[in-house]
Amino acid sequence: MAEFGHAFREKYFTLLEKDVIPVNNGSYGTTPTMVMDRLRKVCEEEEHYPDRFYNYEVKDIYVSQVKSLAKYIGVDYKNLAIVPNATVGINTVLRSIPWDFEKDSVLVHTTSYGACSNTVKFLHDTFGLKYDVADVIYPMEDSELLANFEEKLATGKHRLCMFDMISSMPGVALPYKELIKLCKKYNVLSLIDGAHAIGMVDMDFIDELEPDFLTTNMHKWLSAPKSAAMLYVNPKHHKIIQTNPISWSYVPTATCKSADDIMIEKFWYLGTVSYGPMLCIEEALKFRKDVCGGEDRIRAYQNELRPAAIEAVQKAFGPGSELLENAEGTLAVPGMFNVSLPVKKEYEAMIKKFCDEPLDFRRTVKGPCEATMIREDKAFAPFLVHDNKLWVRFSVYIYNELSDYVKSAPLIRKRLEEALDQKALELEIASL
Ligand SMILES: Cc1ncc(COP(=O)(O)O)c(C=O)c1O
Repeated sequence: MAEFGHAFREKYFTLLEKDVIPVNNGSYGTTPTMVMDRLRKVCEEEEHYPDRFYNYEVKDIYVSQVKSLAKYIGVDYKNLAIVPNATVGINTVLRSIPWDFEKDSVLVHTTSYGACSNTVKFLHDTFGLKYDVADVIYPMEDSELLANFEEKLATGKHRLCMFDMISSMPGVALPYKELIKLCKKYNVLSLIDGAHAIGMVDMDFIDELEPDFLTTNMHKWLSAPKSAAMLYVNPKHHKIIQTNPISWSYVPTATCKSADDIMIEKFWYLGTVSYGPMLCIEEALKFRKDVCGGEDRIRAYQNELRPAAIEAVQKAFGPGSELLENAEGTLAVPGMFNVSLPVKKEYEAMIKKFCDEPLDFRRTVKGPCEATMIREDKAFAPFLVHDNKLWVRFSVYIYNELSDYVKSAPLIRKRLEEALDQKALELEIASL
């Protein structure tokens, strides 16, 4: 079995530019070359004879991908669909529910992913759907987080609760199993944003805990091409779920009959799109099994490299640099970690202000700084201000080695410090 690390990258991720230091798999994922080869082949097959492909071939291949995926992760295929990405998965659910806009409310959390909470905001702005936000401020114990959610759920005001399995920024795990149970306890629908989950954590809890809805990206950590995500819909919602966009497969809820293949029938054709990414899932799973040696081997590599990578980043970030973790150590995920960059004493008030004005941070610091990291250094890790600190999120993947962190962390530190100095100068000039 091939060893992970740089030699593995050379062999299996040949499309990645040679001088990139890839410490951010989390944002978009990185597709192995063999999966990209398969993708090109599928796109060509579509063009050999489109009438035949779309009328007679694609559905069977789609079904085969869904079944293989279901078997790989240990869930019932009848509740699964393939959608382009987690944003579509979330929109599909939120725009299918027959809301009572007079009274229904959705619970999200402070660290919910912006694109997904924007969907809730759209429903609020356009139709008057109410929403509420549970506080999530790290480092926080799971018990505190659960208490914050429970306080909101116990009010009986909420019809649905949308929560992450693994948040994006910061990249940390939530106690998603307990949150599913809490939703059940208070008879609130659970919509789980598992964008970072599949390929990082086990998914076989789904059939046991039976959440209401769950979506997870396959292009981030499961080696599938962009864009491919899974959508799970609990059988009790098969009748109400509608595709996004609504297409030929539309069945009015009132006349929709329960059937084993209802998810397939609804989701296999949503208008003319390339099926390339959807039809490469089996190839991605083959890469994971045959080339990588399976999920356990992948995770073992990440779990071994992660502590050394954290140490290297903290060393580069200087004294006072912290790992974002709680006392129980439950925030950790195999593929990501967040480390704080200590700032000059005189900049602490500025960081504090950014926490209250995230748009200013995004416009004046984040945007310009990210552009330099990506375009000039080719060493990029996303960062955020959270609880009056500046945090940088690093990814740990099968092509990484310790030297990636040793090299990238000082570059990232330098760019962040330059951006803060620049902002401080602008503020000083503005105050003259
Ligand atoms: C928690 C979370 N939800 C949703 C998404 C959206 O994923 P996509 O852009 O693939 O739809 C992301 C992307 O990073 C994410 O981290």
